[in-house]
Amino acid sequence: MPGAMPTIGAGQLAQRLGPWRSAGEPEGGGRGKPLQAALAERITALVLDGRLALGTRMPAERSLSEALGVSRTTVTAAYSLLRESGFAVSRQGSGSYVSVPHGVAARTAGGYQPDGHVGSGSSSEDVIDLMCAAAIAPLPVLQAALRSAADQLPVNSGVGGYLPYGLDVLREAVADRYCARGLPTSPDQILVTNGAQGAITMVARQLCAAGDRVLVESPSYPNALDTFRAAHARPMPVPLEEHGWVRGSYENALVQLRPRLAYLIPHFQNPTGHLMDPDAQASIARAARLAGSWLLADETITDVALDVPVPPPFAATIRAADAESVLVCGSMAKSFWGGLRIGWLRGPVRVVHELAAARAAMDLASPVLDQLAAAAVLRGDQGYVEEHRTRWREQRAALMAAVDETFPAWQYRVPEGGLCLWLRMDRDEATALSQRAQTHGVMVHAGPRFGADAGTFERYVRLPYVLPPELLREAVRRIALARTVPGPRPAADHRSDLVA
Ligand SMILES: Cc1ncc(COP(=O)(O)O)c(C=O)c1O
Repeated sequence: MPGAMPTIGAGQLAQRLGPWRSAGEPEGGGRGKPLQAALAERITALVLDGRLALGTRMPAERSLSEALGVSRTTVTAAYSLLRESGFAVSRQGSGSYVSVPHGVAARTAGGYQPDGHVGSGSSSEDVIDLMCAAAIAPLPVLQAALRSAADQLPVNSGVGGYLPYGLDVLREAVADRYCARGLPTSPDQILVTNGAQGAITMVARQLCAAGDRVLVESPSYPNALDTFRAAHARPMPVPLEEHGWVRGSYENALVQLRPRLAYLIPHFQNPTGHLMDPDAQASIARAARLAGSWLLADETITDVALDVPVPPPFAATIRAADAESVLVCGSMAKSFWGGLRIGWLRGPVRVVHELAAARAAMDLASPVLDQLAAAAVLRGDQGYVEEHRTRWREQRAALMAAVDETFPAWQYRVPEGGLCLWLRMDRDEATALSQRAQTHGVMVHAGPRFGADAGTFERYVRLPYVLPPELLREAVRRIALARTVPGPRPAADHRSDLVA
């Protein structure tokens, strides 16, 4: 195992295993199964669900046997079963490490390969596209913003058009929004980017070198994971539990691994919808400073608060002493429209300068017209956000009702915000199901697309509630059909892997 690898203590693993003696049976049961087999199955399930990261060093046999109250022979036998099935590897003198068998990783490594075709992101009765969790443009607001942008153009066309920091009017509008939400911010701390994705890309390319560790949640936003991989950095997953971040686990990983960068989505996490509490945010920011790591908090989804108030800005919840290593990105995409490719990064002024200077080698600058429109939207009446929220709540209810009725064995947590249900199915079949669903005219992402480790989340699918209720009901009906009946149409050769 190259470099520092995560470790898991015996007590922690025992806690994560839960009632493992009944593993293997369809939700409970399993009486009569040898203990070692039940233990190995439960550990395997944790790996496949992404709750034990690949490469994690397993506890010593003796400590695990003590923590679980079983004989050491049982643990030795369970580890040996895991090695036989490819879910663990041993290194002479240095213990056992979590692994996945070759075939599993290949089978579930992320659904479909991009082939250059870019999906329209639209849905018709024929093909229901649930690949992107994105807002529909509030057309009258967008049109008014574009007219205002056109009116502002004479004042702004005097400059060359390449503005690596972004237009002053937009930097001011973004800074003012932070101030209004209780976080004093000067325009100098804002760098305008091409969507939040542009900010993530800049941070990854500028701050990370090949081989650097980047701490990520697992599951997480796939484009961020791909961006870190493209920068030749190494995403190091911190598994999320059913209820979100395990208290202290992100901090422990920071201390253990001292990554170059830690990336997290604290508000209505994509895909799980989890919301981090302010104390946890402060504690993670502190741990990042102590570990000497940069922290990038992605607030793209912050405004999509459906059952709770919009959370305070991440940087408002941390101690001032920890702010120097904290960067935050945000965007117009979820609260307004993703087609306006405008986002931003908020950080210490010297980092803003550094990223702006490096930008020439990436994308030079963001489009002036889009920036003017974004500024007009941010300065204008924000009533459209509440309209979006009302629609999303209705759509979420419709999707939940359809899922509950059609798949009573599927489990999910009702997210307080965000745009997706993250569903745990009753079988490990996400990749195959997403392929078959396509032949029935539904495009969905399988769980493995969101895993930081290949071969994980094969029991999960993500269903965004961004379409009208009747289309969501029809999508669920087709997914149910796809489970049992071969589809009427061939799987398209040209399928986009686009995810948002
Ligand atoms: C967590 C997260 N970050 C970033 C993005 C990308 O945002 P943008 O469209 O502003 O680039 C998305 C889009 O889905 C997202 O979910």
